Amino acid sequence: MIGIFDSGVGGISVWKELYGLMPNQDFIYVADSANCPYGRKSASEIIERAKKISEFLINKNADIIVVACNTATAAAIKYLRMHFSVPFVGMEPAIKPAALKSKSGIVGVLATAGTFKGSLYLDTLTKFASNIKVIEQTGDGLVELVENGKISGEETELLLQKYINPMIDAGADNLVLGCTHYPFLAETIKKITNNSITIINPAPAVAMQTKKIIAENNINNSNNSGANMFISTGNLETMKTLVRSINPNTREQDFATQKI
Ligand code: DGL
Repeated sequence: MIGIFDSGVGGISVWKELYGLMPNQDFIYVADSANCPYGRKSASEIIERAKKISEFLINKNADIIVVACNTATAAAIKYLRMHFSVPFVGMEPAIKPAALKSKSGIVGVLATAGTFKGSLYLDTLTKFASNIKVIEQTGDGLVELVENGKISGEETELLLQKYINPMIDAGADNLVLGCTHYPFLAETIKKITNNSITIINPAPAVAMQTKKIIAENNINNSNNSGANMFISTGNLETMKTLVRSINPNTREQDFATQKI
């Protein structure tokens, strides 16, 4: 059983890659939508939520937990690894692939304030960004738009233009999506930029890494049925729409609201 959690529906973009890679595994996903966004919460508040949700997932028999949230990874993954015995996989800002791909040597990163503040991001910059220029932009308001299902439309386009146009004007040719909500905005980003910037989503690499850790830890059990359960601490509507845009066969009973 693979447990996944995020501050909200963003981690569904990570589940999409995990499910695509391992369709026969069982998944349980928690969206902490009642407490979203995490981006402006303190590290200790995020650790508290991450701990509660991890306990919940482990009680539901999760053998491994994917922290499908850059902000929660930045704030809490060290604590979670110390506190629980199951393996944890986190999100990493995809600076390395962006640096390798960039021809202009200028890369934009869109993430939450919490992610930019974390030592994980700073370490990644030190390791992989010594030869490139990185333009950082906090995506204030974008998580809320995705949570409300507004992945396209004028309001979303205007906010994305405000954040991304200056990066393009400064010469950025690659854009790192440093928040798991943002891949749902990829089509709108392509539209407003006329495909003039390459979008880098770390989720496929995180899914590969999860598969590797599952193999290393012998977690694969032959009894799993490819079942998926989607739980939200808040509203389920956007999650239903996003999940069904990926797997239209997801049934009503595969969704539940739960206080955690
Ligand atoms: N999906 C979360 C992330 O990857 C969003 C954080 C938030 O809730 O602000 O950072």
